[in-house]
Amino acid sequence: MKRVITYGTFDLLHYGHINLLRRAKALGDYLIVVLSSDAFNWNEKHKKCYFSYEERKQLIEAIRYVDLVIQETSWEQKVSDVREYHIDTFVMGDDWEGKFDFLREYCEVVYLSRTPEISTTQIKTDLNYMGGK
Ligand code: CTP
Repeated sequence: MKRVITYGTFDLLHYGHINLLRRAKALGDYLIVVLSSDAFNWNEKHKKCYFSYEERKQLIEAIRYVDLVIQETSWEQKVSDVREYHIDTFVMGDDWEGKFDFLREYCEVVYLSRTPEISTTQIKTDLNYMGGK
């Protein structure tokens, strides 16, 4: 069984996220999503989520491509996650291109092209312009 892992915040779930998860799952048989905790988002990524960790987790768990959701609480956990969960392939969108090449020592590393135009930030910006209407 080929095991795939990916990391992210996945706030205000959108079709760019679904595209990424579908293609990540297609690279193997079992997909683990490591979902950023609220504290990690705030302290390390300087992001305030609209949905809480538990809300985001429920949404991600409901996606048919996802087999397991675990928590991301530090930048350093990737090597231990890859070892602990016997990961074959680490996947991220290509906004992270090259950033995690150090993991090639432990598993295959794949960067998938992002879906154009859509992002959580874009949704927040667009809703602001619409003034809530
Ligand atoms: N992703 C993607 N295509 C998009 C948006 C995101 O492939 N249009 C991927 C990212 O590359 C990442 C994963 O989805 O691998 C989770 O991304 P995340 O940062 O949570 O979503 P964004 O919409 O990029 O959020 P933000 O605007 O806050 O950066």
